[in-house]
Amino acid sequence: MIKRLLQRTCSNLLAKTCAAACAGLLICAWPGSPLQAQTPTPPQARPGEAAVLSLGGRLYDNHWAVLGRQPPPERHPRFPTEVEIAPEATWRCVACHGWDYRGAEGHLGTRSASPILKSLADVRGMDPQEIVARMSAPPHREMTTPIPGDLLLLLARFLSAGQHDMGALMNAEGNATGDPMRGKDIYEGTCIRCHQADGKAPLYGEAGDKSSLGWIARNRPAQAVHKIRNGAPLADMLSLRFIDTDSLAGLLAYLQRLDPPR
Ligand code: HEC
Ligand code: HEC
Repeated sequence: MIKRLLQRTCSNLLAKTCAAACAGLLICAWPGSPLQAQTPTPPQARPGEAAVLSLGGRLYDNHWAVLGRQPPPERHPRFPTEVEIAPEATWRCVACHGWDYRGAEGHLGTRSASPILKSLADVRGMDPQEIVARMSAPPHREMTTPIPGDLLLLLARFLSAGQHDMGALMNAEGNATGDPMRGKDIYEGTCIRCHQADGKAPLYGEAGDKSSLGWIARNRPAQAVHKIRNGAPLADMLSLRFIDTDSLAGLLAYLQRLDPPR
């Protein structure tokens, strides 16, 4: 009950500090932690793998927002100058590594070929402790020092086990390969209440986003998939990591047909 309440409050837009507290709770209580060893808890009190990975995904999206902190106001000195972006946004993991986790080898490659936009493909399946060591080594250390150690490990677990394979959901052009009728059922049963039938309920997600799920799914499919699987920091968005790949591909296909361009 307490956890349910915390999770509900956690997703409340206004509850920044609670989000940090909730993050702490999830980590303290995850399997194998000292808290687990001391307290015999019923299974529902223990956050599952999907919840842990989704929280890692939200940290990857914007750890500043999740932790209720402010990024440095100036542009990151190593961030490629040719990419137009708000200076403070250059301090988010996703800015350099991308919504598809492939940096300049993936979708970010259309904006810059800089090696600073590094792919994270190599750390998939890697021991999370090794990932923490890699991202805490200089000069990258400046990225990770603002993040408490437990949360860094959680981010590493996400990078090891939580990256999704875009190729299983869409073709090289970004067109979803799933069955839109399957997606329609999910959309009408789950999403419509917040996003409206046309997907055009107001959105303030990322700079340049249109308030249209159809537009976002067509133009920024990897961003849409990341947020569908992990939720959005500080917003009342769901995290649907538990749905299978075919259903997710179908959902994306349906979203891409919403609000079609005229
Ligand atoms: C300004 C761009 C930038 C940002 C922001 C950034 N990184 Fe990186 N990241 C890099 C670069 C460049 C490398 C390669 C090592 C280096 O030059 O520091 C790297 C390396 C890594 C590696 C090791 C990859 C490997 O194959 O060894 C991991 C893991 C990683 N980053 C995760 C993160 C996470 C998590 C965040 C957010 C907390 C983050 N990065 C933020 C640019 C960035
Ligand atoms: C309880 C309300 C709620 C439900 C249900 C919900 N969402 Fe969301 N969703 C949100 C909110 C709030 C945001 C963040 C909006 C913002 O950033 O301004 C969001 C963000 C998103 C985004 C990211 C938009 C962007 O700008 O990057 C996508 C994609 C999305 N939702 C898809 C879905 C899908 C698909 C479903 C159904 C499976 C769904 N949502 C269900 C509330 C909801």
